Parts: sequence; structure tokens; C-alpha cells
Amino acid sequence: MEKYYQQSKGINVLPTHAYFIPFGNKEGAYNNRRMSNAYQDLNGVWRVQEYASILDVADNFYVNTPTDEIVVPSCLQLLGYDQMQYVNIFYPFADNPPYTPNINPAYHYSRYFTLKKGDKKQYLCFEGVDSCFYVYVNHQFVGFSQISHRVSEFDITNYLVEGENKLDVLVLKWCMGSYLEDQDKFRYTGIFRDVYILSRPQKHIVDYKIDTALDGTVGFTLEEGASAVVTFDGQTQTVQEGQRITFKLSSPKLWSAENPYLYDMLIESEGEFIGEKVGIRTSEIVDGYYLFNGKKIKIRGVNRHDGNAYKGVAVSIDDILTDLTLMKQLNVNAIRTSHYPNCPEFYQLCDKMGFYVMSEADLECHGVWGNVPVHANYGNDHSRLACDPQFADAIVERQKCNVLCHKNRACIAFWSLGNEAGYGKNFELAYEWIKGYDNSRPIHYERAIIIDKSVDNGDAYYNSKVDVVSCMYPTLEGITEILNDPKESRPLIMCEYCHSMGNGPGDFEAYWALIEANDKFIGGFVWEWADHGVWKDGKGLLYGGDHGENLHDGNFCMDGIITADRKITQKSMEMKKVYEALEFHLKGEELSISSRLHFEKICATLVVTYKEQGEVVGVETFDLSVAPYEKVSFAVKRAHVVIASIQLKEDCGVLQKGHEIARAGWTEEGKAVLEGITETEITYSQTNRYITVQAGETTFTLDKANGSIASIYKTNELLKTPMALSVWRAPTDNDMYVSKKWQEARLFEAHGEIRTTEIKNNAVIFTGYMATARYIPCVYFTLTYTFGNNAVSVALAYKCEKYVEYLPRIGFETSLDKSFESLSYYGYGPYESYIDRRISCIKDVYKDSVSAMEVHYVKPQENGSHYGTEWLEIENGKTKIRVEGNISFSALPHSSKEYSAVAHDWELPERTSTHLCLDYFMAGIGSNSCGPALDTKYCTPMEGEGKFVLILK
Ligand code: GAL
Ligand code: MG
Repeated sequence: MEKYYQQSKGINVLPTHAYFIPFGNKEGAYNNRRMSNAYQDLNGVWRVQEYASILDVADNFYVNTPTDEIVVPSCLQLLGYDQMQYVNIFYPFADNPPYTPNINPAYHYSRYFTLKKGDKKQYLCFEGVDSCFYVYVNHQFVGFSQISHRVSEFDITNYLVEGENKLDVLVLKWCMGSYLEDQDKFRYTGIFRDVYILSRPQKHIVDYKIDTALDGTVGFTLEEGASAVVTFDGQTQTVQEGQRITFKLSSPKLWSAENPYLYDMLIESEGEFIGEKVGIRTSEIVDGYYLFNGKKIKIRGVNRHDGNAYKGVAVSIDDILTDLTLMKQLNVNAIRTSHYPNCPEFYQLCDKMGFYVMSEADLECHGVWGNVPVHANYGNDHSRLACDPQFADAIVERQKCNVLCHKNRACIAFWSLGNEAGYGKNFELAYEWIKGYDNSRPIHYERAIIIDKSVDNGDAYYNSKVDVVSCMYPTLEGITEILNDPKESRPLIMCEYCHSMGNGPGDFEAYWALIEANDKFIGGFVWEWADHGVWKDGKGLLYGGDHGENLHDGNFCMDGIITADRKITQKSMEMKKVYEALEFHLKGEELSISSRLHFEKICATLVVTYKEQGEVVGVETFDLSVAPYEKVSFAVKRAHVVIASIQLKEDCGVLQKGHEIARAGWTEEGKAVLEGITETEITYSQTNRYITVQAGETTFTLDKANGSIASIYKTNELLKTPMALSVWRAPTDNDMYVSKKWQEARLFEAHGEIRTTEIKNNAVIFTGYMATARYIPCVYFTLTYTFGNNAVSVALAYKCEKYVEYLPRIGFETSLDKSFESLSYYGYGPYESYIDRRISCIKDVYKDSVSAMEVHYVKPQENGSHYGTEWLEIENGKTKIRVEGNISFSALPHSSKEYSAVAHDWELPERTSTHLCLDYFMAGIGSNSCGPALDTKYCTPMEGEGKFVLILK
């Protein structure tokens, strides 16, 4: 067997051409492809045999009949073969191209199929096989292909017999192409997309290209194949190979994500009928601005990997539809196909549903970054493969597989050359090839940003072969610098931003303020759409390292704005808010609403709800009709809380009547109904350690050792553990860097040490510090307890020692009996809220329960806090604890220690208590797992003061 897997080219794979499926009749030409009589589905049950190494495979392996049965398409590792492995950057094999490991697992797939051969041409198509494969029909070698996410097509006519035929495919885990497919994902092997045969006439259409212009001109170029008759808008023309014909619409309806209008185009040739859907639109850069249909649109995007919690990357068209439907619900208007082309039907769905797509080539060689141990004193060159001539053809070929196949899809607004593969000659060739073939979309490639601007006046940087400047996870300063650079003439896009790992991201608002304010700033794609976790072994969602991997990147693949099993999360709502199509302003009694759309009028219902202290006191409904760039105003009333909700009047695509497309709320400050403390006579008694305070029917015991409230007794003991000062939170994924410093500073054990105690009328005043083993104290404080009738106010003034980076939080933590389950609060809700993560939240009165307030991050971490809380009440039917102040709080089934200790949600211990955190300050969330460090304005202040009141009822 030839070692094709150590070369970068395919053998006998037909050149890529536009994707289409011919039908046998005119009427059916727009049907689902599975209904075409030219289409023979080869999905389903296949047999498979595993070989530990390609070297174990005999040259005539195909004479064997494998015994295992599996369903194709699928991922072998999820069916019990090989080894699951999640790696982000590193190559899971030695970096020494073109070689791959000798112990390279190989899989013999086999099946029979019957076929009426006739005098037709028969094409065998694989839409995705990872990583490469040899094809045999009836024991004859047909060809070899690689590039996992390409459509590989073979002409098998001459290998077939009438009736039953045998198909054998040998799939290898690794090949030379694997050096170019180092995307951040579980490394799956197998036939993971559809397999089918197309039966076609001897002479037939091979390739065609459709172009459109805003004046209504629609061009059709017959790139290759038999002449055709094309019908468009009632006009019919004949076209020969190499010829371009044009049609002209007098008043064209344009395609956009806002209104994905598609025209039918029927192509007829040699008895075949191809139903094309044509969207008329332009995507271009003019004078440094990105224009879609001539308008400065914004990209409100997400990065999408194929994924499913049960099937891995072997997603069905229904899975894709689920994703796209959720995206529509969350106001997403753009998708980057990170980091490979998607299956052809994906683009058809995007055409139909309306998404701007950045279609990316199957290309990433991040692994060259991690190819020497970090302690090694010689660097690695990220651009090595980008410059290596042995990869030049392969890098260009990967563009062809993307562009040639999908070029006729209106949804594709940008081509992207790949991801994280360095920059060099090979990318310039790639760019030039695309420009030469299709100049109708700007070309994107983020890595041009690594070119050193300081060399030769930035010549290489400013003339790099990309049409847009792209960056990932920039700081706000970094963006401003690019936007203000007088030498930069290209628009800017963030191909990745708001890294949505775990509890986060906290910076949607800041980025969008800049995007909305700058016409040259096109927008961005959130990293990323969904977590990659897999349900395996019945335990729960698993990530890297849960499968005994020798090398892995842990939970770095759990960074989706929705979950792996496709559930909307609190973070989804933050994105939905910032991506909504309307902007609201409430001034006095005038509510003005302006449209952010560019093409379509929004007609919907505006529902205004007025609330006082959590109770709805009025609802008004208005008709909303707002044209692009326009603003409409409504006379409304004022109330404590005013909520504007925009709801669809009728079904709109996949969105149903009543669906809320936008929402805003306004809360009048200073309206909290507070009880405060009523005075009563206070009596004290003391031991060396404790001060017992009688305040009405409540007895408080203060601990002079650490300043905590050791006990609160009112007919019963209320505290299971002392209510003590604490600065620790279970690190979030976005705390990943700062939490190393927190750990090193031992903040997890920081506790109060009291040095002076003073009793003054109805107050006890402690001074002291927070201490840990080993270090000088981290925080100095004065803590004042002031007692009233069944109540105490707890005031803290503190100052951090300089070595503290910033505190995770500062406040009190205690545990109560788990019967304390129901609560109400007045603060930012109903979703968890943090100082920098609350645009989808409204400050209002909410009722909730402790169990429901827990947010189940797959890797447990700080969760469920509510920023800006002015009061909360938690009760167990007998006793009510009321807290008043201006705090962040959480009331959860687990403690910050418990969340810190486990790696998976399903490992959390059974609930024993209700854990209450009352924080004067809770640090923001940010997106530092990949993005910039937390903005200092959201860090817990280095010194500060605060107060809350506890009232027992
Ligand atoms: C980016 C990369 C993505 C993903 C992300 C981290 O650098 O382009 O593919 O790895 O980091 O989640
Ligand atoms: Mg990467």
C-alpha cells in the first residue's frame, strides 16, 4: 500500500466543484436531496475492524470481513474504539512533518450496496472523513483522500458491477494533513459526515458559478460540463461551457440575514434538474468600510464547531437546525465556521434562515507553538508551516475545497484562510488564489496581525494579504489603537471575543460600546457557540482528562455560550441582550426605540409592564413599527420598575409568535422599602472569648477571636457555621490566572484575627486583620456590630496589603439549615449577576429558591451571585432572615469550598445546608480565561467600606 498518508495530496479525488444535487424531474428539484433518484444514501450500518497501526494492515486487507457493526456517520472514539482525547494547542503526536506516528490506528470500514448501474456515471461522495482514507470498490483501489472537512468525490463507474457491490474504506487516524488540522477539539476519527453515491448521465454539468449585483444582474457561468438551460425569473437561456449568461431583475429583492430572500433558478442539462436558490447581495469593502448590500452592517456573531454531546462531531442536519434555531432566538446574525468548512447543507440552511457566514478553510497548525518544552531556550516559529514549501499546495488546496464547493451560497460574506497557522508565503498564495477565483467576498485571516509593525515602517504589516484586520480577545486599548491608526485603511473585526468559559463573559457591553461607536469596527464572533462536553459512561458531561488521556487541555473546551446538550444559559441571555436589534432610551415619560437593522422594518408588539415593589401594577401594549435607522417614541408612565418587551406579532421563520426579540428595564433608585433597625435595650455578657448580646428576643454571640457571629439564637439556633469574614470564591475559569496568585497568597484560608475589642453603647467594635499562614496579613479592618431589636448592622471598613492582587470578594459567609430554601430579593436578577455581567438582568424584586439559584457549570465554580441587592429574605417557614444593604449575595446548596474542591458538577456532595454569602464587594467576572485581564473598575477595591443589616423575624 502506498504511504499516501505521508503526502499532502489526494489520489483520484475529483477536483472540487460547486455543491449541488441533481434531480430527475423539474418539480422535485428543490426537494431534500434524499428524495432525488440520483442520490443513493450509504449512511447506516457498516462493518468495521480496528488495527492498532497502519503497519498491521495487510495490503489486501479488504478481503477480510470486519465483524463489528457501527452506524455511519459517527465518531469511532465515542463507540469505544481508540482513545478519547481533547487537546487545544498541542499536536498529539511528534512534530516532524510529513511523518505521523507509526502506531497510527487504522479502521477498515466495509459494506455492500446494490445499484442499478445502467449507462450512468457513478460518483461516490464522502462529506467528511477524519483524517484520511483509502477507497476500494469490489477489491479494486479507487483512490485516497484527506482534508477531513472537504467533500471527497470519486468516479467509481468503472469499478462497479450491476447489482451487489462491495465498498471497503481504510480510515487512518493521522496523516500529513493532521499537521494542518490542529483545531481545538476532541480528536475524533472516522466517517463523520454523510456518504452517498450520485448517479448521473455520461455527460453532465460539473461546475457553475453564480454572481449577483445590487442592480439586479444575476450571472451564471458554466465553469465546466455539458451545456445547460437556465431558467430564472421567467426567463430561459442556454449556456455553454466557459460562457457567462446574465439575467436582469428590474427591482431585485435583496438577500440579507434580516430578510433572507431567495430566488429560484432552475438548471436543466442532459435530463438532470438542479434547483438553485439565489440570494442577491454584495459583501465588500469600500473606502475602508465593510458594506453588505451597501450598508455598514454589524456582525453579531458566534464561532460554531460541529458538536453534539452524544455524537461528537457527527452532527445531523437536525442538530444543525437546532443550533441555528437557538442562534436566531438569541439574536445572532453571523457564524464563523471555526475552523473548517461545514457540510453543504449547513450553508443552504444559512441561506434560507439568514446568517452572514465566514466560511473558514480546514486549516490550523497551532501545534508548532507548543513544539519545544517551555523551559527550552530556543523559541518555536509559529509561522513555520506557513512558510514551508512542502505545505504550499496543501494550504492552497484547502482554500479550494472551501471556496469552490460553497461559492454559490449567498450567506457567505467572508472567506477565511484558516486559524492560528502563522503567516507566510503559503498564505499569500492562498489569498491570491481566492482573489483570482472569487473577488466577491473579503478575505479574512487573523494571523496577519502577528507581523511585526515596527519593521520597515510596517510595510509587511499594512500590506499583508488580508482584506480586514482581525484580532482575537483584544483589550479595549488594543482595539482603539487599531481604529486610530492613521496608516490602517482596513476595517476591523474580532474573529473571537468574549471567551465564554464557565461563569462569564463579563465584557459584552464594553466591546459593543466600541463597536457601535465606530463605523470601521464590524463586530465580532463570540468564542464559542457551545461547550464540547460529551455524555459518556452515564456519569455526566465529560471534558479533557476524563478519559485517561496522556496529554489534554482539561476543560478548555467547555467555553460555549450554550451547553454541550444545547441548553440556553445565563450567559446566552447576556449575548442575546447585546445582540438585540433595537436600542431603548427612557427619558422622563418618553420611551424611544431605535432600530439597529439596515434593511427591514421591525413590526412587533411592545409590551410595557409597570411594577411597584415586585407587583405588576399596569401593562400597556403598543404597536411597534420601526424602519431601519429610525427611532419611534411612546408616551409611557413611570413606576418603580418599567420593563419594555418587544414580542413578535406573528411567526417569523423559526421564531414563533410571541417570541421576545428585545427587552429592557429601568429601575428607579432609592425606592427600596427598608425596615432598618429599631432600637431596644441591649445587654451584654462576656467570657474571655465570647460576647453574648441580648437584642430583643435574639441572642447574638460574637467571637472575639475572629470577629465572627458565632451564634444567632431566636427560639432556635440559626447558624450551622459561624457567620465569618471571608474573601474566597470558588475560582471561576476566568479567574484562572489571578487565582494562581490568590492560591499562592493562601486567600482560601484568610480569616479574621481580632486585636482590639470595644463595647460602646449598643455597638461592638473590633479591629483586626485577615490572616493566613506564612504571610503578613492581607487585609486590615474595623468591624462594627450595632445592635437593635432582633437586628444587627454589620459595618466593615478595610484596606488590603499591597501584595494582594485584588480580592475575589469581601464579605461574610455562613451556612444555615437546608430548610432555608425559599427566598425573595431586590437586586439584579433573575439570572445570576455580577458587576460586569448583568446587561440581561433587571433590578427588581424576585422570588426564587436556593436549589434553583445554583448555576450548574460543568466544572463547578463561583455562581449564583446577585449584584446590587438592597434586601433579601430567606426563610424556612419558621424563621425569616432579612438582610438590608447594598451587597452582592448568593444563597446556594453548596459552599465556596465545595465548589472549589470538585472537577465536575456531578461530583458535588449531597446538599447538607443552605450557604449564604453576603458580600460588600464581589469581583467582576471578565473573560480572562482567554481574554484581557479583568478591568480594574470591576476589581474588588483595595480599600473600601460597606454595611448591611441582619433582621431576624
Ligand atoms: C483561540 C482559538 C480557538 C480556541 C480558543 C480557546 O486562540 O482560535 O480555536 O482554541 O483560543 O478556547
Ligand atoms: Mg488553536
